[in-house]
Amino acid sequence: LLTMATNITFHAGSVSAEERSQLLTQKGATVWFTGLSASGKSTIACALEQHLLHLHKFAYRLDGDNIRFGLNKDLGFDEKSRNENIRRIGEVSKLFADASAIALTAFISPYRADRAVARELHDKAGLTFIEVFVDAPLSVVEERDPKGLYKKARAGEIKDFTGISAPYEAPESPEVHIKTDECDVKEAVARITEYLSSKGLI
Ligand code: PPS
Repeated sequence: LLTMATNITFHAGSVSAEERSQLLTQKGATVWFTGLSASGKSTIACALEQHLLHLHKFAYRLDGDNIRFGLNKDLGFDEKSRNENIRRIGEVSKLFADASAIALTAFISPYRADRAVARELHDKAGLTFIEVFVDAPLSVVEERDPKGLYKKARAGEIKDFTGISAPYEAPESPEVHIKTDECDVKEAVARITEYLSSKGLI
């Protein structure tokens, strides 16, 4: 078992986050996508990342590919693992935002309380946190089922599957609400970009 560190002190560094933003001419932020599996989080995050990079903005995507295969490969899908998954992603995205990047996180992040912790972490550091609800009805994502996981979950072959045998708590007041059965990827990217621009982030 791992033990907690003691005797550690916080070192503030000599460049403030504000000064860093000025020097790099970019303000950091986190765009936090949340939604069911196959709702379109990764697709929109990828397209947004590409769009922002073409605007010469440092955007970086955190999603299953680089987190659940790396930093969080010790975690599963039970409630405690998901809490820890989201806690770590909240911390990492905050570091990216503090480094003046626009972090794009694409995780189901099914628990409201976990997302609230990530938001609070950003708020406390004076960093912008933008929650994007990638909303598609269960019937639609189940129909899409690109990885065949809903079928397996219905057959009882995967336990704790979000939307089937594990909860998804939809955001109550997301900054951006995208209904992916009504809005295409291009439009979704345009809506989020507009929001970023209205906040002076791009
Ligand atoms: S969470 O809830 O935020 O910790 O989940 P996340 O890290 O985003 O991982 C979700 C992807 O893992 C696959 N998968 C599952 N999803 C939900 N429930 C269970 N039990 C599960 N097992 C595996 C699934 O492909 C999710 O991929 P996306 O990209 O969301 O479709």
